Amino acid sequence: MKDRKFRVSEFIHGADYNPDQWLDMPDIIEEDFRLFVPAGMNSATIGIFSWNKFEPQEEQYNFAWLDQIMDRMADAKMKVILATPSGARPAWMDKKYPEILRVSSERVRNLHGIRHNHCWQSPYYRRKTQQINRILAERYGKHPALFMWHISNEYQGECHCDLCQKAFRDWLRKKYHNDMKLLNHEWCTDVWSHGFGSFDEIESPSNRGEHLIHGMNLDWRRFVTEETLDFFQNECVPLRELTPDIPITTNFMGQNMDFNQWKLAPYMDIMSWDSYPEWSMGRQQDMDAAIEASFCHDRFRSMKMQPFLVMESTPSLINWRTVNKLKRPGMHELSVVQAIAHGADSIQYFQWRKCRGEGEKLHGAVIDHYGKEDTRVFQEVSRVGELLGKMQTIAGSDTDSKAAVLYDWENSWAIEDLQGWRSPRLYLETVYQHYKALRKLGINVDVIDEETPLDKYRIVAAPMLYMLRSGIAERLKQFAAKGGSLILTYGTGEVNENDLCYLGGFPAEGLMELAGLRAEEMDVLCDGEYNGIRLSENNKIYQADSYCELIYPKEGCEVLAFYTDDFYAGKAAVTRNQWKAGACFYIATRPEQKYLDTLYQQIAQEQGMELLWGILPEGIDLAVRRTETEEYYFIMNFSGESVQMPLPKQLQNSSVFPDGRAAKEIYLEKYGYIILKN
Ligand code: GLA
Ligand code: ZN
Repeated sequence: MKDRKFRVSEFIHGADYNPDQWLDMPDIIEEDFRLFVPAGMNSATIGIFSWNKFEPQEEQYNFAWLDQIMDRMADAKMKVILATPSGARPAWMDKKYPEILRVSSERVRNLHGIRHNHCWQSPYYRRKTQQINRILAERYGKHPALFMWHISNEYQGECHCDLCQKAFRDWLRKKYHNDMKLLNHEWCTDVWSHGFGSFDEIESPSNRGEHLIHGMNLDWRRFVTEETLDFFQNECVPLRELTPDIPITTNFMGQNMDFNQWKLAPYMDIMSWDSYPEWSMGRQQDMDAAIEASFCHDRFRSMKMQPFLVMESTPSLINWRTVNKLKRPGMHELSVVQAIAHGADSIQYFQWRKCRGEGEKLHGAVIDHYGKEDTRVFQEVSRVGELLGKMQTIAGSDTDSKAAVLYDWENSWAIEDLQGWRSPRLYLETVYQHYKALRKLGINVDVIDEETPLDKYRIVAAPMLYMLRSGIAERLKQFAAKGGSLILTYGTGEVNENDLCYLGGFPAEGLMELAGLRAEEMDVLCDGEYNGIRLSENNKIYQADSYCELIYPKEGCEVLAFYTDDFYAGKAAVTRNQWKAGACFYIATRPEQKYLDTLYQQIAQEQGMELLWGILPEGIDLAVRRTETEEYYFIMNFSGESVQMPLPKQLQNSSVFPDGRAAKEIYLEKYGYIILKN
């Protein structure tokens, strides 16, 4: 299938808008339309959970309210992102067709209610979602306000009903060519008498039953991924048929691991995600939240290598963490600028107006229960609207990255599932460390998976690449052979895509030659316990935690650092192996951030990359977007205090965007930022 692509031509500033919660208060809806203007909104996402208003009784429809809203949106020149309603259902439907209701892994069928509570396979529900989507497409497909389809909402979860069990078995039959012997071999079922005699004996993983066959757990997650994709495609059928020119997206969650988000990307016209970093929990936490947010922005951009949308964010607080703090004054604008800097072409909110009841009534929204525009939050949103309006030349522009961090979904499943080593296993945390070290160099970084082509990069960091799939080992070798710098760590190349350990030594699949070493044993440390590394170059010592792998470099492999403690003191901890025109670095432990920062700086210098600031001060984020004629440098301060930075020679002729004055200095207030146009 051809990868679908769509980009917007102007920034979207919008919100989830739920007029269906206010139909009995027409004055409120009047106010909404008045307030869209001072808030600087140019878009609204409508209908996400409106099925009960569309079809209050079976086959009895009511679209009058939406007709009016759509017309008013068109009059107001606002873009409507129209949602399909499959995220939640009317009660009559579940009562009459209980097959829709999701079954848990304990094999208990849910009752009606909440949301995201449907079976992916239910033939009735699949028909019914197509039917309602067809009605929406027929009714609004040519409406001037219709801008984009928003499919369902935050697809998530899994179902273990009989229909899903059957579908899982059929999926396995196909994958293993109907060959039980092959399946038993790939799942290594001779352990604990786990072998299956026929496909009919297999059930989805459950804590009440089989959940220790790692190959099966992986296959289940892959199956759930395909089920989710299939459900999505089923929803799209009438939309693609009746509105081929209207782009389609679905709003993804950040780090939800239920299904492999990458597999859905080619079927989206544009990626969108719901961004809720945990701000205001202290200085260090703000800096960490900034890294996690930029990582996700970079990932969603890299999934289609094009700009994406922030479909949801909060203008202030949220309601679902243990402690839900307000965004401090200025943080909203800074987090918006960060999203744009990393490739977002929109800022949208959950939600426009606080609801009166239920769980989300205290969640932040543009309009408070108070109802007027003279609130701090409204004013901040309105400033963002104004700012986006002035920044339109950036909308749709690209990001050019010479470095990438590999964070693979399926590898993450495998690492989470492995028994041994230590808990937590810190895969994502380790990836963040490497990502952070690269970002601190002030270079753009893509976040890729094992299937992403590597040709355009100079540096690829692939921490904890435990599971090798899709020919990644061979591609990493080619990458290094052509001059790239590859960074590997402990725990690399241990299992194949079905979670079977490689025989003959780790890291397997030729990575032993590439890294110039063999990894033999994995020692792990408790939380708060440390080893250290001593650099060969200058005897400097850095702390190391959590993982200490014992590696044996081969001749010619250069040892950059040795362990300082325990029975492996003096043995290699960090190495560099020349591989044709490039090099493979192997970091066998988890050194403190400072060490990674300097190592990555050396690697970038070795690659001849121009670093405008060397290593950026802590808490400073820098990202660059590029149009055909201009480069925009976004320099953002998440450090919690003011920061002064030199203006590098290369940017001395740049101007401050959007106001156009000549750039003289870089002085950033707390939560401040500057955009330099070059
Ligand atoms: C998710 C959902 C929204 C809303 C927000 C609240 O992102 O998609 O409907 O519940 O969370 O933060
Ligand atoms: Zn099911």
